[in-house]
Amino acid sequence: SDAALQEAFDAVIARHDRIEPRDWMPEAYRKTLVRQIAQHAHSEIIGMQPEGNWIGRAPSLRRKAILLAKVQDEAGHGLYLYAACETLGVSRDELVELLLAGKQKYSSIFNYPTLSYADVGTIGWLVDGAAICNQVPLCRTSYGPYGRAMIRICKEESFHQRQGYELLATMVRGTDEQRAMVQESVDRFWWPSLMMFGPPDTDSPNSAQSMAWGIKRNSNDELRQKFVDMTVPQADALGVTLPDPALRWNAARGHYDFGPPDWDEFAAVIRGDGPCNAQRIAHRRAAHDEGSWVREAATAFAARTER
Ligand code: ACO
Repeated sequence: SDAALQEAFDAVIARHDRIEPRDWMPEAYRKTLVRQIAQHAHSEIIGMQPEGNWIGRAPSLRRKAILLAKVQDEAGHGLYLYAACETLGVSRDELVELLLAGKQKYSSIFNYPTLSYADVGTIGWLVDGAAICNQVPLCRTSYGPYGRAMIRICKEESFHQRQGYELLATMVRGTDEQRAMVQESVDRFWWPSLMMFGPPDTDSPNSAQSMAWGIKRNSNDELRQKFVDMTVPQADALGVTLPDPALRWNAARGHYDFGPPDWDEFAAVIRGDGPCNAQRIAHRRAAHDEGSWVREAATAFAARTER
């Protein structure tokens, strides 16, 4: 009966075990997972663009090899996640259509431009650092295929974070001009990185249900705080200033206090009105159209070999 199925599902969630693709699940749970995993997959794919912008202008062969490897990893992450999402009964084609039609979201962070090579370092350090804070707990998410994809992704993300920090650490040991480039880049990316964790808990319509289902293990504000606490000492070690006058250690709380991001800017970016939204989608659509012959050839080949 439905009640028995629901009871079995609730028991799996209560003991923090995994739901697998063939298990019964409530329709709303399935829909929430499709929404979150698809959005995550799209973020990985769109996220190739800001850094891809610098591959042809890397300052050395070594930097180019690192950046190429990293951007290719993001493509791989997108593919693991689309595959995880397909186990919920949607196809990758459908998901890509929804992205291109603006009906599914991708992370706000990728709607900001990359204006200097320091941005490659800052994205690794702050953006991938924020991604790790958000994604490590997702390794224990209640849906098996998503959690297993996250384990691989997190290992690669920590390489991305380290390469970014190492690039910035090299630049700050360089000239005054290089140090200024690093600071300018950190000034632009700090607030958008804090926005990656989503709206404040009081304003997050999905959090309560997603946490009850064990899809999310921590709230948006908890993870944002964890990221700030982790990042401030790293900023000190680099010798850069984080652009928040309210940032200070609070001994009573045992955490750093920090100011609120500009939530109006966040709303505008997720509405489609960020600095690069139109460019990112136009670029993805063009790449998708230009790749149609590959999909057609693969489909024709599969039809021939299946016979
Ligand atoms: N960028 C774009 N949209 C966002 C962002 C963001 N930074 N934060 C929240 N939103 C959207 C939510 O998707 C939701 O819209 P929707 O209902 O249309 O999907 C709305 O804002 C309200 O937010 P919440 O109720 O807090 O949504 P949710 O519970 O899904 O939490 C979060 C948002 C934290 C981003 C969650 O979905 C998550 O952890 N996702 C997995 C991680 C991820 O997607 N990372 C991608 C970026 S990092 C990287 O890959 C390098």
